[in-house]
Amino acid sequence: MRENTLAIALYPGSFDPVHNGHLDIIERARRMARRVVVGVATNVEKEPMFSVADRVAMLRAATERAGVEVMSFSGLTVDFAHRLDATVIVKGLRAMMDFEYELKMAAMNKRLRPEIETIFMMTAPEWAYLSSTLIREVARFGGSVSGLIPASVEQRLVKRVRSQRKG
Ligand code: PNS
Repeated sequence: MRENTLAIALYPGSFDPVHNGHLDIIERARRMARRVVVGVATNVEKEPMFSVADRVAMLRAATERAGVEVMSFSGLTVDFAHRLDATVIVKGLRAMMDFEYELKMAAMNKRLRPEIETIFMMTAPEWAYLSSTLIREVARFGGSVSGLIPASVEQRLVKRVRSQRKG
C-alpha cells in the first residue's frame, strides 16, 4: 500500500436505485482507498421505491468486480464511518444544485466527528444530470433509462414499476 493511499473510505447514500453516476464514483474511490464500503442508508426521510435489501442486492450485483463492500446502516453516517474505522466519507458532486445540500451535511458531519473528512468528487460530465429521482420518474412514465443504470437494475426497475401499476 502506498503511504498516501486512503485506508478506509465510506461512500454513503440512498441508492434508490444505484445508477451509472454512483458506479463511476465507486470505481474512482476504489483507486484511492485500500477499502471502500458503500453504505446504504436505511433511515432516509423520503419514501424509497426499493427496500434496503433490494438496494443492497442491486449494488452488490453492479459492483461484483469492483472490490468494494456493500452494507446497509441506520443512524448517523459519521457513526457508521467511525465503526468502520473510515477516515473519509466520499460524496459525488453534480451540478450546482448539490452544493448547498452537501456543504451543509459535510459541515454537520465535521462538527459531529471532526476526525472524519468528507471529500467530494466531481461527477463525470456524462452523468452530471443523472439522479435516482429522475431515473424513477422516467421509468414510472414508461421512458427508457437504458444506458443510465446497469442492466440488472433496469430489469428490477421495470418489474417494480409494473407491480406498482397493478397494486
Ligand atoms: O443519496 P443521498 O440521498 O444524497 O444520501 C444522503 C445520505 C444518506 C448520505 C444522508 O441522508 C445521510 O447521511 N443519512 C444518514 C443520517 C445522517 O447522518 N444524517 C445527518 C447528515 S448531516
